[in-house]
Amino acid sequence: MGDDGQHAVTSPPVAGRPGAAGPVGDIAPEEFRAHAHQVADWIADYLTTVDRYPVAARIRPGEIAARLPAAPPEEPEPLAEILADVDRLILPGITHWNHPGFLGYFAITGSAPGILGEMLAAALNVNAMLWRTAPAASELEEVVCDWLRQLLGLPAGFLGMINETASVSTLCALAAAREALTDLRIRERGLAGRADVPRLRLYASEEAHASVEKAAIVLGIGQEGLRKIPTDAEFRLDPAALAAAIAEDRACGWRPFAVVATVGTTSTTSVDPVPAVAEICAREGLWLHVDAAYAGSAAIVPELSWALAGCDRADSLVVNPHKWLFTPLDCSVLFTRRPEALRSAFSLVPPYLLSPESGGRDLMDYGVSLGRRFRALKLWFVLRAFGRTGIIARLREHVRLARSFADWLDAAEDFERLAPVPFSTVNFRYHPPAVGPSGDPAVEAALDRLNERLEQAVNASGRAFISHTRVRGRYALHVAIGNLRTTAEHVARLQDLLRELAPGLT
Ligand SMILES: Cc1ncc(COP(=O)(O)O)c(C=O)c1O
Repeated sequence: MGDDGQHAVTSPPVAGRPGAAGPVGDIAPEEFRAHAHQVADWIADYLTTVDRYPVAARIRPGEIAARLPAAPPEEPEPLAEILADVDRLILPGITHWNHPGFLGYFAITGSAPGILGEMLAAALNVNAMLWRTAPAASELEEVVCDWLRQLLGLPAGFLGMINETASVSTLCALAAAREALTDLRIRERGLAGRADVPRLRLYASEEAHASVEKAAIVLGIGQEGLRKIPTDAEFRLDPAALAAAIAEDRACGWRPFAVVATVGTTSTTSVDPVPAVAEICAREGLWLHVDAAYAGSAAIVPELSWALAGCDRADSLVVNPHKWLFTPLDCSVLFTRRPEALRSAFSLVPPYLLSPESGGRDLMDYGVSLGRRFRALKLWFVLRAFGRTGIIARLREHVRLARSFADWLDAAEDFERLAPVPFSTVNFRYHPPAVGPSGDPAVEAALDRLNERLEQAVNASGRAFISHTRVRGRYALHVAIGNLRTTAEHVARLQDLLRELAPGLT
């Protein structure tokens, strides 16, 4: 604005033109164009040759930082030099999640359409805090989340919104659940120092993700406010134990308020019995949040739609397209049937953000963040470029590859599968009969050490990357098929590696 409060009329900025304190404006458009072409070529080359890199970075902690200048640059540096340093300084420190041999944690894909969406989102750089500040981003988010709802088979009435991670989505859902205890007026009065508020409790299985416990910490419920419910032989929450825990807690003066059921637990991808849990929640008046961060996407495949059975009764549900739906990090969709509870928890509108024309759908009202990236754009690209049929074929292929790997393990005398394989994740361990029988504490300890070394050896090979977890206390090797470039050849490569490396470690 000019001194008189009017908008100053200026000529368009000339990039790099000298100003009083040095050059002003952005990099020259021609320079940007040339480098943007280079970056596009770089990305296309990377995606076609990523298989040639060792999957895990071969560096020690601190090595990358030590190679970088400790102080910021005083003078401008040419883009060409910065780009060259990506190859020289950054790539050696990359563990390649987009590598087809990346089979650890929940393997993911930054797919080509998703990358294009992400590039455009950076160029537009809209902030979708209000409908007014980003009409297309706000409306595309609504539409694309509704497309995902339909693909997942959830009923109309679930409203979707995009957060950065499932951890944040779960936090927001549980904040809404807490806010739904309207008589306690926690939003205004807080929890600390109040004698009139009973201790609040939420429930999740012992296999639930740590993000549930973190949410309990952040929301002032505390770690003791999360009661972990035992699971059955297939790692699924035991509904009878849940019902008993709620009754016991009520009798002891706790106030139960929410249950988190998991569809696809982090370690074994088990699926909690949501229909039975929903029944208990309805009876007890508790908020039901479903964490389907990984396995929710599976429900797009007709023969896996059972995964979300009963979820139509959930108050909220999270699915991460950045896990098993080929969308570059970050993209987590939180669905809720009770958007008004999220609004009650989070809407706080200072005068400078008043925008009556939005019709009540300003995204800032549904979460912690004010500023919001245009994440819907990449999800739109992904859903359109693959389509329902393309997504189904790809997810099916991942499940087929995981099952073929599980079959290979089952046929091997010296490998042991440690959990069922409902989706595309397999937990197992190397157990040569000579080490001794399972269950013997000394044997179990030896197997833990052996498998830890096997994991390290596989990862040091650079040809595949796997991770680990504990399954009923046992050190388990964890393989997840989730990258679009992973083929039967990569699974066979892992099998060869295991065969080659394991015997030498005993
Ligand atoms: C079941 C489950 N829920 C939540 C999360 C957390 O996801 P995010 O990294 O998006 O917070 C994970 C991560 O693997 C998970 O496995």
